[in-house]
Amino acid sequence: MQTRVEIADFENWKAAAGEAARLLAAGEVVAVPTETVYGLAAIAFNTDAVARVFEVKERPSFDPLIVHISGIRDLGRVAVVPEGIQKVVRELGKAFWPGPLTLVLPRHDDVPDLVTSGLPTVAVRVSNHEVMRYLTKELGPIAAPSANRFGRISPTSASAVRKELEGRIPLIIDGGACSDGLESTIVAVEEGEKRPTLRLLRPGPVTREELRKFGRVVKAGPVTGNRPEAPGTLESHYAPGVPVLLFDRPEEFEPEEGRNYALLSYRGDPKDGYLERHEWSRVEVLSPGKGKLAEAAVRFFHSLRVLDTEGVDAIVAEPVSDVGLGSAIMDRLRRAAFRGS
Ligand code: TXA
Ligand code: MG
Repeated sequence: MQTRVEIADFENWKAAAGEAARLLAAGEVVAVPTETVYGLAAIAFNTDAVARVFEVKERPSFDPLIVHISGIRDLGRVAVVPEGIQKVVRELGKAFWPGPLTLVLPRHDDVPDLVTSGLPTVAVRVSNHEVMRYLTKELGPIAAPSANRFGRISPTSASAVRKELEGRIPLIIDGGACSDGLESTIVAVEEGEKRPTLRLLRPGPVTREELRKFGRVVKAGPVTGNRPEAPGTLESHYAPGVPVLLFDRPEEFEPEEGRNYALLSYRGDPKDGYLERHEWSRVEVLSPGKGKLAEAAVRFFHSLRVLDTEGVDAIVAEPVSDVGLGSAIMDRLRRAAFRGS
């Protein structure tokens, strides 16, 4: 299959989105930009199209998909929100939608089992990207996981999608680089004793600190084998082809003779202890100078891809502070570095 790329820039995004809508309506799958990462879209109620998403991604069917809707008014088409959490769901929607927050809620019967992997819940979000907004308005709920092959680095540009899925899908909508750069925050909303419980299943651009205003934020349960609470948040994920090494302190890095190491640096500042520690074969700096977490997040997956290249034997990653958006980056880094226990 030949994969076409249509540019969705300021002038012709609507024509490109229209082309995507035509293919989706015909039951095809199409890669589309969102503010977080590129998604591999299919109409959520079309089981054959959803099955094609799993096939294209080589994704195991125990890993459910996120459903995108056009706004909270469409929530009732995919979820049945119990009385006790209606208020907090409304508040969260008002505060963060459209945007990078995914809510896990009891599912509506109309949502195919394949989308939710047979779970009683469904993951829902409203993207603020104009292409996804157009598609959900025109076509209704759209299932879209990140547009990478299973377990690999999420794509934040059309060229990254091509590297992952060229020849497997008919169309990629190129909306430029994603403005957030990390996948959405996933929260399971449940009734609590005094306040609603917000179980943080995947840290992301909407931070734990921001969520605290709306309920009691608790961590997701422990990962057990192949079936963690958010099934896709396996310990090993976002894995580049070459190993990623993560240390608590730079002194712990002991290079092996004759091996080529690349550095994924946060600020590119020697004071952080990594830059001058070794003759790196390549260095990528996430946020040169002062170190801004938002900038680092936008460049994170792209930089990981750049370093995941021939001639590099391992990537050493500098840790960032584990607060706010930094927690989302550290979550991705730990999974990228995980090599089994
Ligand atoms: O930012 C994003 O969320 C992107 C863009 C394209 O919207 N999508 C994305 O999808 O990251 P994906 O499929 O790569 O990750 C979805 C995650 C998986 O870890 C999956 O296990 C989890 O959401 N998930 C989906 N439905 C769930 C449910 N009912 N309960 C718990 N976790 C769920
Ligand atoms: Mg993914």
